[in-house]
Amino acid sequence: MVHIHVHENWRLPDCAATEEQDYLSRREMLARMGLGLGAMSLLGLPGCSTEENARDPFGPRTIPAGGKPELAPGAPLQAAMKPGYRKANRRLSREDLVLRFNNFYEFSLDKEEVWKLAQRLETQPWSVEIAGLVDNPRTLDLEDLERLVPPEERVYRFRCVEAWAMTVPWIGLPLGALIDKLGVQDKTRYVRFHTFLRPEQAPNQNLESGYAWPYYEALTIEEARNELSLLAIGLYGKRLSRQNGAPIRLVVPWKYGLKNIKSIVRIEFVEKRPPTFWNAIAPDEYSWHSNVDPSVPHLRWSQASEKLLGSGIRVPTKPYNGYGEQVAGIYRP
Ligand code: MTE
Repeated sequence: MVHIHVHENWRLPDCAATEEQDYLSRREMLARMGLGLGAMSLLGLPGCSTEENARDPFGPRTIPAGGKPELAPGAPLQAAMKPGYRKANRRLSREDLVLRFNNFYEFSLDKEEVWKLAQRLETQPWSVEIAGLVDNPRTLDLEDLERLVPPEERVYRFRCVEAWAMTVPWIGLPLGALIDKLGVQDKTRYVRFHTFLRPEQAPNQNLESGYAWPYYEALTIEEARNELSLLAIGLYGKRLSRQNGAPIRLVVPWKYGLKNIKSIVRIEFVEKRPPTFWNAIAPDEYSWHSNVDPSVPHLRWSQASEKLLGSGIRVPTKPYNGYGEQVAGIYRP
């Protein structure tokens, strides 16, 4: 990305990946106990001293007045695994790395600083405005959204435009099912997403940073309705951490990571193609669609291969990040 700094020390040895089996069996064990790590922290159980809590990348477990512990970042979250999405032909990335190596420019341009600064983000209360070409424009909170569409779990590969990649188990609401419930009008051609604007919580959202906040993204209505498109609310069996886009973010795994907008506050259905954040800043470097395409290099680096987060291993990049079977039909003339 523009002004991006990739530190050398995130390149850890091969062992820095979680076997799917380890993650699932640990989670199932905690579920049987009726606990997740978030719950253990909330209860102040051993292994969750105040000092460790302060270092916890999920952030402080204090619940704001009127807030709900079960909605706090890091609280346990269970959802049925979507058949066919239990594996993504790659080892899962290590959870602690996924929580400490982030792009969230509202907080910092330094990927390893984001998780600390993002703890300032207040995620309760949170609501999402549903606007534009819908029969019934309204404002929904997280629980309303989850009532409309039951969450499910899916393991996806994720490819950043900066040529690093991870594989993670998201929990989210299928966007197509949500669109069906919202009464979207026929003339809708695009879906527009907006992040919060809170300079008092997100230090980089100030005039000096030079970016046109808030972050905004968009999909065509066909892309939004595709079975892969997810509004994620969880990761690794827990509510999303702030640095990963709490409490709700977009996940579109055949596109570069920059399309996966975090901490959404507004979803708008429109007829005309809306601008998108990075495409408006540098159209020669970031296309509007930003579909993963190994044959089109970025102006400053190749997109032919990608490094797996935490391992340093470089693997070839596939068109549409390997999801061509599900999405290529969208782009056929
Ligand atoms: N969303 C917002 N609001 N702000 C951002 O800076 N960065 C994007 C995307 N969503 C970004 C965002 C980019 S460039 C990437 S690669 C992914 O978030 C990173 O997601 P992760 O930190 O969960 O890995």
